[in-house]
Amino acid sequence: MDADNQALHILNGIDLQINAGESAAILGSSGAGKSTLLGLLAGLDQASSGEVYLNQQPLNKLSEEERAAVRQQVGFVFQSFQLLDHLTALENVMLPLELAGEKKYEAKAKQWLDRVGLSHRLKHYPRQLSGGEQQRVAIARAFAGEPLVLFADEPTGNLDSVTGHSIIELLFSLNKDQGTTLILVTHDEVLAQRCQRRFYLQQGKLEERS
Ligand SMILES: Nc1ncnc2c1ncn2[C@@H]1O[C@H](COP(=O)(O)OP(=O)(O)O)[C@@H](O)[C@H]1O
Ligand SMILES: [Mg+2]
Repeated sequence: MDADNQALHILNGIDLQINAGESAAILGSSGAGKSTLLGLLAGLDQASSGEVYLNQQPLNKLSEEERAAVRQQVGFVFQSFQLLDHLTALENVMLPLELAGEKKYEAKAKQWLDRVGLSHRLKHYPRQLSGGEQQRVAIARAFAGEPLVLFADEPTGNLDSVTGHSIIELLFSLNKDQGTTLILVTHDEVLAQRCQRRFYLQQGKLEERS
């Protein structure tokens, strides 16, 4: 990363393997590089050096087209949600399903919005939704694609404890029932303790602790 030509080293010597079907939490203080690491693991960003394998594919060596194909198997819940402003909640969830060739995209999108408790907000635009509601739309969008790996950046960060709890249950039911690999950035110790593995990011290094 460059800021005014000053190279900023955020991550350093990270060596991490997460196996299919596992759940892992990444913890660390604000600015430690958690979001950066998650973006690299999901193939959204490219590291200046090193290699990331996703589902056995070396992301740095793939063409843009091949990388896009691998990314189809991945769901991502952004810390800032990244919903499309000019689309309703329903449309935000439907769009990637439609693009992926899912025939029942509308029914599926509705089903997932229902599971995150938003069936009464289908026609609302992001600006008409609270932060927690936007977060749940982003979660429904990521879940609906039935990804092999789900990356979520502080997925309960904007939710009250009751809603947060139900989202956590949903995450782990995906992991249990569909074998979805979960990689979560979180400050929530309860959520972290539910994961099989915990990694702490500090000064660019990652350390696994129990
Ligand atoms: N696009 C960017 N350009 C320059 N610096 C950035 C950029 N994105 C993040 N950073 C910096 O990288 C560091 C790690 O950021 P981030 O990965 O968002 O941390 P975390 O998610 O752990 O809070 C921070 O110091 C942040 O200011
Ligand atoms: Mg972050």
